Amino acid sequence: MAWDPDQYAKFREQRLRPARELLARVEAPRPGVVYDLGCGEGNVTRLLVERWPRAGITGVDDSAEMLDRAAKAVAGVTWVLRSLVSWEPERPADVVFSNAALQWLPDHRALFPRLFGLLAPGGTLAVQMPRNFSAPSHALIAETARSRAWKDRLGHLVGPEPVSSPSEYFRLLGPLAKSVDIWETEYLQVLEGKDAVKEWTKGTWLKQFLDALPEGERAGFEEDYAARLRVAYPRLEDGRTLFPFKRLFIVASR
Ligand SMILES: C[S@@+](CC[C@H](N)C(=O)[O-])C[C@H]1O[C@@H](n2cnc3c(N)ncnc32)[C@H](O)[C@@H]1O
Repeated sequence: MAWDPDQYAKFREQRLRPARELLARVEAPRPGVVYDLGCGEGNVTRLLVERWPRAGITGVDDSAEMLDRAAKAVAGVTWVLRSLVSWEPERPADVVFSNAALQWLPDHRALFPRLFGLLAPGGTLAVQMPRNFSAPSHALIAETARSRAWKDRLGHLVGPEPVSSPSEYFRLLGPLAKSVDIWETEYLQVLEGKDAVKEWTKGTWLKQFLDALPEGERAGFEEDYAARLRVAYPRLEDGRTLFPFKRLFIVASR
């Protein structure tokens, strides 16, 4: 999927908060080798540089648009344009950090043990992923894509939820790790502006559906989806929209 950094950045602070909360739970006083997987435009990588200024930090992402921005915005980091499906680190990692990226990768049953296996002894894998796929924000994308008007062109894009239950990740990592800490947080996000939930997903999950349509048809799909969202997330009298959003956090140490 081609990323649109401007659309993604519209809700920068709300998207950054879980990364800060995950980082606060990583106990790694002096890591030498740190990787930020799916680093995007480097907002989270910057937090890693601030926390560990002496570490060798590498950001990995397969979007040239995102990495271009990252390279301009954050100094002192090695940027690698590569898919995480095939990426391997040059050296065993003291910290593998990934915020809001691994939900884009398939087969977590193989992926998580593989990522954990990249750690040096004493290293930490720290991951945050959205787990809002059964909430209306995401379920209504699937519902719209499967509706009569769109199913021929978009139905095939609807797949199973990409993120499993917290206990499934414990089952994958528990036998391998010295310690595993897994938790979920549901943020009551308060969004400003018209069709705010659609604007949110347009920066992430919705985009793959829009990209699959000819340009002239995208507005029609957006409007069908937005109409459903207006019922599920009615605006408050002051114009704001409440958007509860669940996220899963994993910190596993070797
Ligand atoms: C929602 S953004 C998160 C960016 C950053 N971690 C942050 O929290 O601001 C997801 C990022 O994952 C990257 N991504 C998705 N699938 C990927 C893959 N297979 N390999 C590498 N990067 C991937 C995207 O290019 C995008 O930059």
